Order: sequence, then structure tokens, then C-alpha cells
Amino acid sequence: MADEWKEMYKKPKESPAQDTGPLLFYNDLVVDHFTNPHNVGELENPDGRAVVGDPSCGDQMQVEIKVKNDFIVDIKFKSYGCPGAIATSSMMTALAKGKSIEEAKKLTDDDVVIALGGVPERKRHCSLMGVTSLLEAINDYLKKTSHTDGSVKSHDQTTQ
Ligand code: FES
Repeated sequence: MADEWKEMYKKPKESPAQDTGPLLFYNDLVVDHFTNPHNVGELENPDGRAVVGDPSCGDQMQVEIKVKNDFIVDIKFKSYGCPGAIATSSMMTALAKGKSIEEAKKLTDDDVVIALGGVPERKRHCSLMGVTSLLEAINDYLKKTSHTDGSVKSHDQTTQ
């Protein structure tokens, strides 16, 4: 069967999850988000965009958002990362889509990990890249809107 390889990432039912050794095990929801990630791709004329890298592993990701009336109406990501990065980024986009900018700014890596039902300890840092990319894309959006109406100051502008 073509999907047989997905089974190798699933936690064996007869033994507890291990966090050592060459192969890490993930719960079914994480495997689903890894094998069928949500909101993958790029947006035409995004309102905010960010590319973020994790220096600890060299992985990278891009997030783009479309904003209408201060709500994230669309979001896409491309990940050059591990299964943990892909699954957590997929969940991050599912959580961010439809949220107001103010609500989305409060999303944390813990929210993503909890929504996925947990990830192996060694993979916890992977969720940070998705959330950091989202926040950077929001900052990019805020920077652009401050140029048009002058009402919002970006982090860069307020710290200079
Ligand atoms: Fe780099 Fe997961 S190991 S993001």
C-alpha cells in the first residue's frame, strides 16, 4: 500500500512513546498534519510575508498572510523542515486562519503543541519556527499598513 510508510512514524500501541534513538514516534494527529499539511503554498499579493530560519538545525520556513478588516482571511506556508516543523506549521496555520491580528499575535508554540496533542520533547523547538514566522508576517503587514495610514508602528520603528 502506498501509505504504508506513514505507519512507521506512528507511536506503537503496545509500548510507550520513546524520545531517544534514530526514529521518533508521533501521535496520529501529528502524522496527519505531517502527511497532509494544511494551507501549503504561496499567496498572490500577500499582505504580510516572512521567512524564518532555525539556526539550531538549519531548517527554514515561509509564511504569507492575507488580511481583511484586521482578520487573517488566508494563510499559506512552505517549510524546508522536519516532520515536526511541517506538522506544527500546519497546525499553526489552522489556528491562525480566521483570527483577528490581535488574537493571532497571542498564539504561542505551546498552543500549537497542545492543539496537536503533544510532540516528542526533542521536537518541541520545531513549533517555534512556525509561530515566529507568523509573528514576523504580522509585523510585515503592520509595517506596510503603517506606511499607508500612519496609524500603526512596527516593532522596528518603535525600538529605534
Ligand atoms: Fe529543525 Fe524541526 S529539527 S525545525
